[in-house]
Amino acid sequence: MLNPSAKSSDRKLTLRAIAEPDLDQVLALDHSALGGLWNRDGYQREIGNDTSALVGLWLEPSAEDRKEAHREKQLIGLGCVWFIVDESHIVAIAVDSPHQHQGLGQLLLLALLQNSHRRGMTRATLEVNCNNFRAIALYEKFGFKQVGIRKKYYPNGDSAAILWLNRLGWPQFIDTLQQWETTVGDRLHQHHWQWIPEAP
Ligand SMILES: CC(C)(COP(=O)(O)OP(=O)(O)OC[C@H]1O[C@@H](n2cnc3c(N)ncnc32)[C@H](O)[C@@H]1OP(=O)(O)O)[C@@H](O)C(=O)NCCC(=O)NCCS
Repeated sequence: MLNPSAKSSDRKLTLRAIAEPDLDQVLALDHSALGGLWNRDGYQREIGNDTSALVGLWLEPSAEDRKEAHREKQLIGLGCVWFIVDESHIVAIAVDSPHQHQGLGQLLLLALLQNSHRRGMTRATLEVNCNNFRAIALYEKFGFKQVGIRKKYYPNGDSAAILWLNRLGWPQFIDTLQQWETTVGDRLHQHHWQWIPEAP
């Protein structure tokens, strides 16, 4: 479990599959962090789809928030992966800007890779804007390697880097995932986040 030494003052996070009632928050985050990647229909297609996983990262309201403002859980990150034969295609990952660079992108990517590994995927791939140095740094941290470029891939003429992670199917990859879980846990702890696993 991540963050065994969490304090009660830590901000509490949960990670779970996105469902229909979450779509308003999903679209708001998509708009602010991804510049409008998909519309409601696009996200709806991913919900309950056996060949994809759409996960949300939620900030739980504090006891004070609950008392004073009846505030609901806030969606602060999302990730989506498609499972195509034995390949995972990571198609979206986003953290809302006030919470970026605190380890949440790493937590989302780790969750997508854990899910992929459980489902027997052997490789993972994604495309990322060549100018998106933060995202590229995140993926390289998790062993993705750039294998090519799709020139003028985006409507504005920007090119995309094609990244692959080939070790997903290796038997020892389970150990790598466990090491990453510890590293990500430490990073979240430094930023006073506490990740609460959902009950199975
Ligand atoms: C890319 C994104 C998901 C990363 O999420 P995040 O929560 O900010 O990232 P993390 O804190 O987990 O950082 C992971 C690594 O990314 C890099 N990184 C993230 N933010 C960075 C920043 N502001 N400056 C430099 N490096 C940064 C670092 O290598 C970092 O590792 P480190 O903290 O050990 O140095 C987030 O910036 C985002 O949502 N961006 C907009 C949407 C987007 O571009 N998605 C990717 C599309 S393919």
